[in-house]
Amino acid sequence: MKIYLKTPEEIGKLRAVNRIVAAILDEIEAAVKPGVSTLELNEIADRGIKKHGASSAFLNYHGYPAVLCTSVNEVVVHGIPRSDVILKEGDIIGIDFGCFKEGFCGDSARTLCVGKVSREARALVDATRESLARAIDHCVVGNRLQDIGWAVQSYVEERGYSVVRSFVGHGIGRAMHEDPAVPNYGTPGRGLRLKPGLVLAIEPMVNAGLSDVEVKDDKWTAVTKDGSLSAHFEHSVAITEDGPLILSQS
Ligand code: MF3
Ligand code: CO
Repeated sequence: MKIYLKTPEEIGKLRAVNRIVAAILDEIEAAVKPGVSTLELNEIADRGIKKHGASSAFLNYHGYPAVLCTSVNEVVVHGIPRSDVILKEGDIIGIDFGCFKEGFCGDSARTLCVGKVSREARALVDATRESLARAIDHCVVGNRLQDIGWAVQSYVEERGYSVVRSFVGHGIGRAMHEDPAVPNYGTPGRGLRLKPGLVLAIEPMVNAGLSDVEVKDDKWTAVTKDGSLSAHFEHSVAITEDGPLILSQS
């Protein structure tokens, strides 16, 4: 396991690329409404990449065929944008986007509500967003890696939800996926000690039902086995002497 701690200058570049990620997610968010296809959202991301002089982190990554992941309802992550997946009132959609600029990678995701959604759907989305906020609060020098996962797991399980275990967050820097793996579960006080310069993409995936996930025949689309709703939020976060720095917020 090789962990690359980043210098303040490198963290500056990671902040710059993640600002682009946030701006593009903002543009996609503004376009999410009933009647829009997930392929149209991919096209917005594609135009954003070109406008900012960036390059996609997802396209062709292990053969992934798009620049955006669009994960609707029971899709956990890695939904492939399609012209025949049309958003409708009541859906929830995870949008996950990553790109490179000046040799550094940014990565972030959010789950959005399409129009008015059920109380159950909104509560899941709100709890998943809050679990990420709590995880980030634990990104403090001297804490341990599993404190992060524990923050997610304890918050969502208390509400009757389950944490996906077959996908995890990751270190991020010159590559999208660096060590360490960042699970969304854990035992407090265990794991790697958090140091200044460690940069993590923390990405809770939370199911309304059971935690089991299966991957569809397209080799990408990950869905809940029980068909329950799933939500996903992701921020790239730098650990500094002054506390957590959320790189992927506008
Ligand atoms: N944000 C995701 C991740 O952290 C999506 C990458 S999957 C890809 O792993 F294939 F689309 F690149
Ligand atoms: Co990621």
